[in-house]
Amino acid sequence: MALWGTPETAARDIAAANDSPGYVRLAPVFPRRLRDHWLEGHAAEVAELALDLGRDLDLSSHELLELELAARLHDVGKRAVPDSILCKPASLSAAEWSVMRRHPEWGSGMLADVPGLEAVADAVHAHHERWDGSGYPLGLVGESIPLASRIVGVCDAFSAMTADRPYRAALSAGDALRELQRCSGSQFDPAIVGTFVASSQSVAA
Ligand SMILES: [Fe+2]
Repeated sequence: MALWGTPETAARDIAAANDSPGYVRLAPVFPRRLRDHWLEGHAAEVAELALDLGRDLDLSSHELLELELAARLHDVGKRAVPDSILCKPASLSAAEWSVMRRHPEWGSGMLADVPGLEAVADAVHAHHERWDGSGYPLGLVGESIPLASRIVGVCDAFSAMTADRPYRAALSAGDALRELQRCSGSQFDPAIVGTFVASSQSVAA
């Protein structure tokens, strides 16, 4: 496995890139392909939202560390999806979707060979599962979905909805929160949506 360079270059890269606790602790054993993904903008926003939410849910420091890693790396498996699918400026065919939907499994596989990241790999594997069992790849239901995956799912959706896409303008934060509430209990864990909405509204108030 290609690991980071010398401790000196790793330390410099860490300082230049990010000073979050999870990154500092684990960067020396990060394969380069994971480090590059760590810096991607959407992943950084999801991690920031997830950490705020995790603190509101009273997670332990260890749980917050694993949550940050899962949030940062949830879509790392998309690096194995061909650009012809990932960057396609039109809707995907059924066959292309079947490739895209493998990214949780591929991401989990990339993390599984990093010692100590077993729980993070599990969380990445389950980040497209849905509370009612209609998600993928395993169709897990309710609390059988790892908590970090349920938190990342809510934050990933909020971040995606409030960003411009080629095919639609960004939703306002209020509209995105209403959409989370509409999908609470079906796509999302209702307790997590409730906490996220309450803390978002208290910040906005
Ligand atoms: Fe994803």
